[in-house]
Amino acid sequence: MDENYSLAVPFYDLWHEDGHVPLIRELLPPLLKGVERSVIEIGAGTGLVTRVIAQETPAEIYAVEPALGMRSVLVNRLAEDPELLRRVTVLPCGALDVEVDEPVEAIVMISVLQSFPAEQRAELWRVLARQLEPGGRLVFNWRERAVPVPGDLEVMGSYEVGRHTYEVAGQVLEVAGESVTSRFVYRIRQRGVVVSEDEAVVTNHWPAEERLVSELEAAGFSRDAAPEGMEVWRLP
Ligand SMILES: C[S@@+](CC[C@H](N)C(=O)[O-])C[C@H]1O[C@@H](n2cnc3c(N)ncnc32)[C@H](O)[C@@H]1O
Repeated sequence: MDENYSLAVPFYDLWHEDGHVPLIRELLPPLLKGVERSVIEIGAGTGLVTRVIAQETPAEIYAVEPALGMRSVLVNRLAEDPELLRRVTVLPCGALDVEVDEPVEAIVMISVLQSFPAEQRAELWRVLARQLEPGGRLVFNWRERAVPVPGDLEVMGSYEVGRHTYEVAGQVLEVAGESVTSRFVYRIRQRGVVVSEDEAVVTNHWPAEERLVSELEAAGFSRDAAPEGMEVWRLP
Protein backbone atom coordinates (compact mmCIF):
# COMPACT_ATOMS: atom_id res chain seq x y z
CA MET A 1 0.00 0.00 0.00
CA ASP A 2 2.75 2.40 1.01
CA GLU A 3 4.52 1.89 -2.35
CA ASN A 4 1.33 2.60 -4.33
CA TYR A 5 0.72 5.82 -2.43
CA SER A 6 4.38 6.89 -2.81
CA LEU A 7 3.98 6.86 -6.59
CA ALA A 8 0.81 8.93 -6.32
CA VAL A 9 2.19 11.57 -3.93
CA PRO A 10 3.59 14.08 -6.49
CA PHE A 11 0.26 13.91 -8.33
CA TYR A 12 -1.97 13.86 -5.28
CA ASP A 13 -2.83 17.53 -4.66
CA LEU A 14 -3.05 18.31 -8.38
CA TRP A 15 -5.50 15.49 -9.00
CA HIS A 16 -7.63 15.73 -5.87
CA GLU A 17 -7.90 19.53 -5.88
CA ASP A 18 -9.60 18.77 -9.19
CA GLY A 19 -11.65 15.90 -7.65
CA HIS A 20 -13.33 15.32 -4.29
CA VAL A 21 -11.57 18.00 -2.22
CA PRO A 22 -13.49 21.13 -3.40
CA LEU A 23 -16.79 19.34 -2.68
CA ILE A 24 -15.56 18.26 0.76
CA ARG A 25 -14.67 21.90 1.51
CA GLU A 26 -18.32 22.71 0.88
CA LEU A 27 -20.00 19.73 2.57
CA LEU A 28 -17.80 19.06 5.60
CA PRO A 29 -17.91 22.38 7.57
CA PRO A 30 -21.63 22.26 8.54
CA LEU A 31 -21.15 18.64 9.71
CA LEU A 32 -18.45 19.79 12.15
CA LYS A 33 -20.61 22.46 13.82
CA GLY A 34 -20.25 22.35 17.60
CA VAL A 35 -17.00 20.35 17.56
CA GLU A 36 -14.73 22.20 19.98
CA ARG A 37 -12.17 19.92 21.54
CA SER A 38 -10.93 16.94 19.58
CA VAL A 39 -11.05 15.27 16.16
CA ILE A 40 -9.40 12.16 14.73
CA GLU A 41 -8.89 12.28 10.98
CA ILE A 42 -8.40 8.82 9.48
CA GLY A 43 -6.21 8.70 6.35
CA ALA A 44 -5.23 12.37 6.40
CA GLY A 45 -3.15 11.98 3.22
CA THR A 46 -1.32 15.20 2.32
CA GLY A 47 -3.43 17.26 4.74
CA LEU A 48 -5.90 18.92 2.36
CA VAL A 49 -8.85 17.94 4.56
CA THR A 50 -6.84 18.41 7.79
CA ARG A 51 -6.64 22.08 6.89
CA VAL A 52 -10.43 22.26 6.44
CA ILE A 53 -11.00 20.67 9.87
CA ALA A 54 -8.52 23.09 11.45
CA GLN A 55 -10.21 26.08 9.82
CA GLU A 56 -13.71 24.99 10.83
CA THR A 57 -13.08 23.95 14.44
CA PRO A 58 -10.80 25.07 17.29
CA ALA A 59 -10.21 21.38 18.10
CA GLU A 60 -7.01 19.46 18.62
CA ILE A 61 -6.60 17.10 15.64
CA TYR A 62 -5.05 13.63 15.49
CA ALA A 63 -4.17 13.02 11.85
CA VAL A 64 -3.75 9.29 11.22
CA GLU A 65 -1.68 8.52 8.11
CA PRO A 66 0.22 5.25 7.55
CA ALA A 67 1.92 6.03 4.20
CA LEU A 68 5.32 7.71 4.60
CA GLY A 69 5.12 9.72 1.37
CA MET A 70 1.68 11.15 2.14
CA ARG A 71 2.65 11.81 5.74
CA SER A 72 5.77 13.70 4.65
CA VAL A 73 3.70 16.17 2.63
CA LEU A 74 1.24 16.43 5.53
CA VAL A 75 3.95 17.35 8.05
CA ASN A 76 5.51 19.81 5.59
CA ARG A 77 2.10 21.44 5.18
CA LEU A 78 1.83 21.76 8.97
CA ALA A 79 5.32 23.25 9.10
CA GLU A 80 4.14 26.21 7.01
CA ASP A 81 1.60 27.24 9.66
CA PRO A 82 2.49 27.54 13.38
CA GLU A 83 -1.19 27.22 14.37
CA LEU A 84 -1.48 23.87 12.52
CA LEU A 85 1.80 22.70 14.05
CA ARG A 86 0.44 23.39 17.51
CA ARG A 87 -2.91 21.67 17.01
CA VAL A 88 -2.24 18.66 14.79
CA THR A 89 -0.58 15.46 16.02
CA VAL A 90 0.35 13.10 13.19
CA LEU A 91 -0.08 9.41 14.05
CA PRO A 92 2.05 7.20 11.77
CA CYS A 93 -0.23 4.16 11.93
CA GLY A 94 -3.23 2.61 10.22
CA ALA A 95 -6.79 3.17 11.42
CA LEU A 96 -7.03 -0.26 13.03
CA ASP A 97 -4.17 0.65 15.40
CA VAL A 98 -5.34 4.10 16.37
CA GLU A 99 -5.45 4.78 20.08
CA VAL A 100 -5.67 8.26 21.58
CA ASP A 101 -5.51 9.29 25.25
CA GLU A 102 -9.15 10.34 25.54
CA PRO A 103 -12.16 9.62 23.31
CA VAL A 104 -12.75 12.38 20.75
CA GLU A 105 -15.85 14.36 19.76
CA ALA A 106 -15.60 13.54 16.06
CA ILE A 107 -13.87 11.23 13.62
CA VAL A 108 -13.51 12.35 10.00
CA MET A 109 -12.62 9.88 7.25
CA ILE A 110 -12.59 11.27 3.72
CA SER A 111 -11.99 8.99 0.71
CA VAL A 112 -10.44 6.24 2.83
CA LEU A 113 -13.27 3.74 3.38
CA GLN A 114 -12.52 2.05 0.06
CA SER A 115 -9.09 1.00 1.39
CA PHE A 116 -10.69 -1.50 3.80
CA PRO A 117 -11.73 -4.93 2.54
CA ALA A 118 -15.11 -6.12 3.81
CA GLU A 119 -13.51 -8.51 6.30
CA GLN A 120 -11.64 -5.63 8.00
CA ARG A 121 -14.55 -3.24 8.26
CA ALA A 122 -16.25 -4.73 11.36
CA GLU A 123 -12.95 -4.22 13.20
CA LEU A 124 -12.63 -0.69 11.73
CA TRP A 125 -16.07 0.35 13.09
CA ARG A 126 -15.29 -1.26 16.48
CA VAL A 127 -11.97 0.59 16.78
CA LEU A 128 -13.53 3.90 15.74
CA ALA A 129 -16.45 3.45 18.17
CA ARG A 130 -13.91 2.91 20.97
CA GLN A 131 -12.16 6.18 20.11
CA LEU A 132 -15.37 8.27 20.08
CA GLU A 133 -16.99 9.76 23.17
CA PRO A 134 -20.71 9.05 23.84
CA GLY A 135 -22.75 11.20 21.43
CA GLY A 136 -19.66 11.62 19.25
CA ARG A 137 -19.96 11.67 15.48
CA LEU A 138 -18.29 9.74 12.68
CA VAL A 139 -18.27 11.70 9.42
CA PHE A 140 -17.23 10.18 6.10
CA ASN A 141 -18.00 10.45 2.39
CA TRP A 142 -19.83 7.65 0.63
CA ARG A 143 -22.19 7.27 -2.30
CA GLU A 144 -23.82 4.37 -4.06
CA ARG A 145 -21.84 3.65 -7.24
CA ALA A 146 -22.74 1.98 -10.48
CA VAL A 147 -20.83 -1.30 -10.89
CA PRO A 148 -17.79 -0.40 -13.02
CA VAL A 149 -16.87 -2.37 -16.11
CA PRO A 150 -13.30 -3.37 -17.00
CA GLY A 151 -12.10 -1.19 -19.86
CA ASP A 152 -9.25 0.68 -21.48
CA LEU A 153 -6.75 3.03 -19.91
CA GLU A 154 -8.16 6.58 -19.88
CA VAL A 155 -6.59 9.88 -18.90
CA MET A 156 -8.38 11.11 -15.77
CA GLY A 157 -6.49 14.34 -15.17
CA SER A 158 -3.74 16.44 -16.73
CA TYR A 159 -1.96 19.36 -15.03
CA GLU A 160 0.71 21.85 -16.10
CA VAL A 161 3.67 22.12 -13.73
CA GLY A 162 6.18 24.56 -15.24
CA ARG A 163 7.34 23.00 -18.53
CA HIS A 164 5.94 19.61 -17.62
CA THR A 165 2.51 18.03 -17.80
CA TYR A 166 1.52 15.65 -15.00
CA GLU A 167 -0.99 13.09 -16.18
CA VAL A 168 -3.02 10.48 -14.26
CA ALA A 169 -4.61 7.66 -16.24
CA GLY A 170 -6.75 4.82 -14.92
CA GLN A 171 -8.25 1.55 -16.04
CA VAL A 172 -10.59 -0.89 -14.30
CA LEU A 173 -9.05 -4.36 -14.57
CA GLU A 174 -11.38 -6.57 -12.58
CA VAL A 175 -14.59 -6.39 -10.56
CA ALA A 176 -15.42 -8.98 -7.90
CA GLY A 177 -18.48 -8.12 -5.79
CA GLU A 178 -17.73 -4.82 -4.02
CA SER A 179 -13.99 -5.04 -4.85
CA VAL A 180 -12.64 -3.22 -7.88
CA THR A 181 -9.05 -3.67 -9.05
CA SER A 182 -7.72 -0.77 -11.11
CA ARG A 183 -4.45 0.17 -12.73
CA PHE A 184 -3.24 3.76 -12.36
CA VAL A 185 -0.48 5.22 -14.52
CA TYR A 186 1.32 8.39 -13.40
CA ARG A 187 3.15 10.14 -16.25
CA ILE A 188 5.20 13.28 -16.58
CA ARG A 189 5.55 14.68 -20.11
CA GLN A 190 7.74 17.38 -21.56
CA ARG A 191 6.60 18.71 -24.94
CA GLY A 192 4.44 15.60 -25.23
CA VAL A 193 7.33 13.18 -24.61
CA VAL A 194 7.03 10.94 -21.54
CA VAL A 195 9.99 11.65 -19.21
CA SER A 196 8.73 9.59 -16.27
CA GLU A 197 6.13 6.86 -15.89
CA ASP A 198 5.04 4.75 -12.92
CA GLU A 199 2.12 2.48 -12.42
CA ALA A 200 0.23 0.98 -9.50
CA VAL A 201 -2.45 -1.70 -9.30
CA VAL A 202 -4.88 -1.03 -6.46
CA THR A 203 -7.93 -2.91 -5.18
CA ASN A 204 -10.64 -0.73 -3.65
CA HIS A 205 -13.81 -1.83 -1.88
CA TRP A 206 -17.13 -0.07 -2.33
CA PRO A 207 -19.79 -1.40 0.06
CA ALA A 208 -23.45 -1.12 -0.90
CA GLU A 209 -25.71 0.96 1.36
CA GLU A 210 -27.52 -1.98 2.95
CA ARG A 211 -24.25 -3.60 3.98
CA LEU A 212 -22.76 -0.36 5.29
CA VAL A 213 -25.86 0.39 7.35
CA SER A 214 -25.95 -3.06 8.92
CA GLU A 215 -22.22 -2.96 9.74
CA LEU A 216 -22.45 0.45 11.42
CA GLU A 217 -25.61 -0.43 13.34
CA ALA A 218 -23.96 -3.65 14.54
CA ALA A 219 -21.10 -1.51 15.89
CA GLY A 220 -23.59 0.63 17.86
CA PHE A 221 -23.82 3.68 15.57
CA SER A 222 -27.04 5.37 14.45
CA ARG A 223 -27.41 7.34 11.26
CA ASP A 224 -27.84 11.10 11.35
CA ALA A 225 -28.98 13.46 8.61
CA ALA A 226 -26.29 14.32 6.07
CA PRO A 227 -26.21 15.83 2.57
CA GLU A 228 -25.92 13.60 -0.50
CA GLY A 229 -22.44 12.09 -0.68
CA MET A 230 -21.74 12.39 3.05
CA GLU A 231 -22.53 10.17 6.03
CA VAL A 232 -22.84 11.15 9.70
CA TRP A 233 -23.18 8.37 12.29
CA ARG A 234 -23.43 8.93 16.04
CA LEU A 235 -22.83 6.88 19.10
CA PRO A 236 -25.73 7.03 21.55
C1 LIG B 1 -7.45 8.85 -1.31
S1 LIG B 1 -6.40 9.26 0.02
C2 LIG B 1 -7.39 10.46 0.90
C3 LIG B 1 -6.53 11.43 1.68
C4 LIG B 1 -7.30 12.56 2.36
N1 LIG B 1 -8.28 12.06 3.30
C5 LIG B 1 -7.97 13.43 1.33
O1 LIG B 1 -9.21 13.32 1.18
O2 LIG B 1 -7.27 14.22 0.66
C6 LIG B 1 -6.50 7.83 1.04
C7 LIG B 1 -5.57 7.90 2.25
O3 LIG B 1 -5.91 6.85 3.15
C8 LIG B 1 -4.73 6.31 3.67
N2 LIG B 1 -4.98 4.95 4.13
C9 LIG B 1 -4.98 3.79 3.43
N3 LIG B 1 -5.19 2.73 4.22
C10 LIG B 1 -5.35 3.22 5.47
C11 LIG B 1 -5.58 2.64 6.76
N4 LIG B 1 -5.69 1.32 6.89
N5 LIG B 1 -5.65 3.45 7.83
C12 LIG B 1 -5.54 4.80 7.70
N6 LIG B 1 -5.32 5.40 6.51
C13 LIG B 1 -5.22 4.65 5.42
C14 LIG B 1 -3.75 6.37 2.51
O4 LIG B 1 -2.41 6.27 2.93
C15 LIG B 1 -4.11 7.71 1.88
O5 LIG B 1 -3.35 8.75 2.41
